[in-house]
Amino acid sequence: MKPIRKAVFPVAGLGTRILPATKTIEKEMLPIVDRPLIQYAVDEARAAGIDTFIFVTGRGKEAIEDHFDVSYELEDTLTRRGKTAELDALAAIRPGAGDAIFVRQQRPLGLGHAVWCARRIVGDEPFAVLLPDELIFGSPGATEELVAAHDRTGGNLVSVLDIPREATGAYGIVDPGETKHGMTEVRGLVEKPRPAEAPSTMMLVGRYVLQPEIFAKLEDQKPGAGNEIQLTDAMARLIGVQPFHAVPVTGRRFDCGSKAGFLAANLALGLARPDIAPALKALLHEAGLDLTVRT
Ligand code: G1P
Repeated sequence: MKPIRKAVFPVAGLGTRILPATKTIEKEMLPIVDRPLIQYAVDEARAAGIDTFIFVTGRGKEAIEDHFDVSYELEDTLTRRGKTAELDALAAIRPGAGDAIFVRQQRPLGLGHAVWCARRIVGDEPFAVLLPDELIFGSPGATEELVAAHDRTGGNLVSVLDIPREATGAYGIVDPGETKHGMTEVRGLVEKPRPAEAPSTMMLVGRYVLQPEIFAKLEDQKPGAGNEIQLTDAMARLIGVQPFHAVPVTGRRFDCGSKAGFLAANLALGLARPDIAPALKALLHEAGLDLTVRT
């Protein structure tokens, strides 16, 4: 079985849910505590053993590319000032030379189309997909959990989370089969079903391990929900052809594409950071906000 070495990050979206902040700043570059959102997804992939990071970008997304590059002036200044901790922090987040690859999705035709745009770079091997809007906080990370499951079953895998039935219309939903060894067989997949029609409340959280055969399915995939080429619809066509399993995420999920989710992620991750938590707790207390923190 081929190992999972490559991850695709679809980052071409316009971020309309967080306007006006995202008018000139990529939503993936908005900070959660002291790192841009995209960094969390890249770190999660790296923790899963992935060494090739493929970003499907669009126009106006140049800062993402710069973020993963050397910043010569900045690093030279830090070196001259002896700021070794800051230099180390920058070095720690940077992919190795040639490990980050950027390709553009020219038109916003949907998530399935974005993933298809990475086909020539992925080639003929299984790969991970991470939707960076979904920040999943926990150890092991969701991608590591999928890669471990892939080692056991092969085939295609998706991370899932149980949601209230009234929310199914916003997500991909699994039609579940038998559950064995912490994994549920996927019998069907539906993108954004109405609550009454949803086959379950098992939501796709935006973490996938897919076989390269998905690209042939995406190639002729017709537009689906929202008139977009849906990854969910193409994945559904691999069910029965290849093994397909759902793995529950153990981490805590934040939808950082929404304002409330973005703020909650900042608070939760700030409160989980030993260097920041004491000051943050004191400020929240002063503001009359006493939060009980569970980490
Ligand atoms: C996408 C996927 C959907 C998944 C969701 C997770 O939807 O199409 O299956 O549940 O991400 O956030 P989008 O948020 O792009 O509409």
